[in-house]
Amino acid sequence: MRMVDIIEKKRDGGKLTKEEIEFFVNGYVRGDIPDYQASALLMAIYFRHMDYDETLNLTLAMENSGDKLDLSDINGIKVDKHSTGGVGDKTSLVLAPMVAALGGKVAKMSGRGLGHTGGTIDKLESIPGFNTSLSEEAFVKQVNDIGIAITGQTGNLAPADKKIYALRDVTATVENISLIASSIMSKKLASGADAIVLDVKTGSGAFMKNETDAVSLAKEMVRIGKGAGRNVTALITDMDQPLGYAVGNALEVIEAINTLKGEGPEDLTKLVLNLGTYMVLAARDDLDKETVRKELERVISDGSALDKMAEFVKAQGGDPDAVYNTDKLKISDTITEVCADSDGYIQSIQSELIGKSSMILGGGRAAKDDVIDLSVGVVLSKKIGDKVSKGDVIARIYCDNAEKTKEAETMIKDAYTFSREFVEKNVLIKGIV
Ligand code: URA
Repeated sequence: MRMVDIIEKKRDGGKLTKEEIEFFVNGYVRGDIPDYQASALLMAIYFRHMDYDETLNLTLAMENSGDKLDLSDINGIKVDKHSTGGVGDKTSLVLAPMVAALGGKVAKMSGRGLGHTGGTIDKLESIPGFNTSLSEEAFVKQVNDIGIAITGQTGNLAPADKKIYALRDVTATVENISLIASSIMSKKLASGADAIVLDVKTGSGAFMKNETDAVSLAKEMVRIGKGAGRNVTALITDMDQPLGYAVGNALEVIEAINTLKGEGPEDLTKLVLNLGTYMVLAARDDLDKETVRKELERVISDGSALDKMAEFVKAQGGDPDAVYNTDKLKISDTITEVCADSDGYIQSIQSELIGKSSMILGGGRAAKDDVIDLSVGVVLSKKIGDKVSKGDVIARIYCDNAEKTKEAETMIKDAYTFSREFVEKNVLIKGIV
């Protein structure tokens, strides 16, 4: 088999066989296939697309390219959740303890932030003492003991995706449904959960800018998951503005904890109740949807989800008191107000610019090895549909560096647009696949 023939076949719109896809994936991971040939194939796939069989074969080849997590020693159904990425998305920090409080087994492997999007692992590290690097043995034991563990990517999980994703990032080949679906699902399948709930984001801050593409991506991922014998559900949700109000690591942890206390933003609370319902349903077939929803509301109102969060923090070496007293989380004490330049209703908020403003402050990475400042960020005070008068505070910047603050302030102002006419609030849950 020759790589040039595979490229030519896809360039001309042909369907790749399982063997051809495996030849590419394995050869590229081994270093036998150079970047220029891999790039050419990715661009051919970008323009010519792949059908379901090809996408499934690509997913399985990437899943099988490295280690796989063996969760078989965990009793019960293991549930995982994955978001396709957004700004202010602290959902996992709220969902995992809620689901574990209801007996679900949450064995979650999470990533760090890159570019304008944040990562759960960075956020957790803003809790004093928290260890995000568990051995596989400790990870499995903790899920068995308390129902929840979150760790950074361990071992050599789906190395093909790692290498191909890095190449896609610099060859303008990220935004293709088959490539995104296989990238996400190869990692999820290798992470070993029985049930996966996907949060597919759509809107200005998401990879899928329009809803039709988001639905196609969701359908493809659900079909791949089912094809691989997993129970998969996908929700299509809004990312036309940041989720909740806080963007930045420690600030997002505080908002997540407030949500576990029943004092969170409306959109975040609604989202965790919806995603949580499908996670618990996958693990507890003795319960119906209505009951699960009520139970999730109960674990927030009676404090058991918050207690589960404290138990989880303690198990991973963090200070559990920080869950009850968020003053223990370090946030910058220099706060700068950003004010509206005109009257009207908030029409749109470009999530990407808000994410970038937090990155400029030092809260995110431009390159993989950058060191970040967990105490900085932005807290919005107005969202789409809110009425404002000129001079009202629309956001607060947490950072003690005046120059970076100035730059972030300009970005935040650019992110907001105003309308003189009434603007409807966004619909958060757009569909379920
Ligand atoms: N997230 C991933 O892991 N892969 C993609 O291709 C896009 C988003």
